[in-house]
Amino acid sequence: MRHITLSRFLIEEQRSKNVICGDLRLLIEVVSRACKAISIAIGKGGMADVLGSAGSDNVQGEVQKKLDVISNEILLEANEWGGHLAGMASEEMELPHAIPNRYPKGEYLLLFDPLDGSSNIDVNVSVGTIFSVLRCPEGMEPDEKAFLQPGTQQVCAGYAVYGPTTLLVLTLGDGVNVFTLDREMGRFVLTQENVRIPEDTREFAINASNMRFWEPPVQRYINELLAGKEGPRQQDFNMRWVASMVADVHRILCRGGIFMYPLDSKTLAKGGKLRLMYEANPMSMIVEQAGGRATDGRRPLLEIQPESLHQRVPVILGSKNEVERVTAYHLK
Ligand code: AHG
Ligand code: MN
Ligand code: MN
Ligand code: MN
Repeated sequence: MRHITLSRFLIEEQRSKNVICGDLRLLIEVVSRACKAISIAIGKGGMADVLGSAGSDNVQGEVQKKLDVISNEILLEANEWGGHLAGMASEEMELPHAIPNRYPKGEYLLLFDPLDGSSNIDVNVSVGTIFSVLRCPEGMEPDEKAFLQPGTQQVCAGYAVYGPTTLLVLTLGDGVNVFTLDREMGRFVLTQENVRIPEDTREFAINASNMRFWEPPVQRYINELLAGKEGPRQQDFNMRWVASMVADVHRILCRGGIFMYPLDSKTLAKGGKLRLMYEANPMSMIVEQAGGRATDGRRPLLEIQPESLHQRVPVILGSKNEVERVTAYHLK
């Protein structure tokens, strides 16, 4: 494998394929540096004062972990002065963050889940950062309305996983590439090119403790998988659930699988558990760019017209043939 750094990869993408411009390249570089800083903060763990609760709630009604707040701050500070952004929005902030007047503004909108899987942080299990990039519609102020664009409008999406290694997974709408953080050199190096998700799988990821709250199509699908060789699928399936979406999606990117956080009667009023704009959309873009599928059970997630920044959706994504099967069960 050629050892190509993220910086070189981005410059070559800009030069040869013209898929990105200088501002988008800067944006991705800055986000990757912020992820590096988050990775370092996470790595200090119990030696620094970064674990545990921050003692505040976010707009989702969740208790914020210190690292939710720290990661949000790192991303905001890294991105506000470069001149590449019109605005930012985050899981941890009710309203979009305007670029301070003392800095120039750019044409892009950045959305992020600064720390995904934060319930895992205190038990030393993989967590991550998810991000999505949109263009600010011309002539529009970067307020909430400017952000409300369907996932098909994303110009770039990615996530970092802080696991045994720190990885950055990126799509510019031209396939999916994986970069590994070289901790000694302090840079990301391309380690997997044009990743493809196998179309078939025998592995599923769902929080089965919610089983009694699911809708009938999901009940039917999971029951068929659990029946294994003795059921209609005539083969055994294996289950995995990390409870960090980044880690579950990354496993699917590497070896296939289906990830589901379906609608259930507990989250029905909110529309689901996961958030459309900074969890479902960027992950759907990556999964689809890798040959997988992503739906809310009925329609492609990327086609949903968002109505609010923190809108929630049911999420079913991963290996094409399994996602199509569950979606067909919903549409019957
Ligand atoms: P976040 O930590 O950003 O709030 O997201 C948590 C999400 C997601 O990462 C994961 O798939 C899911 O919540 C886990 O939910 P359960 O605890 O209900 O299994
Ligand atoms: Mn949260
Ligand atoms: Mn999350
Ligand atoms: Mn989060």
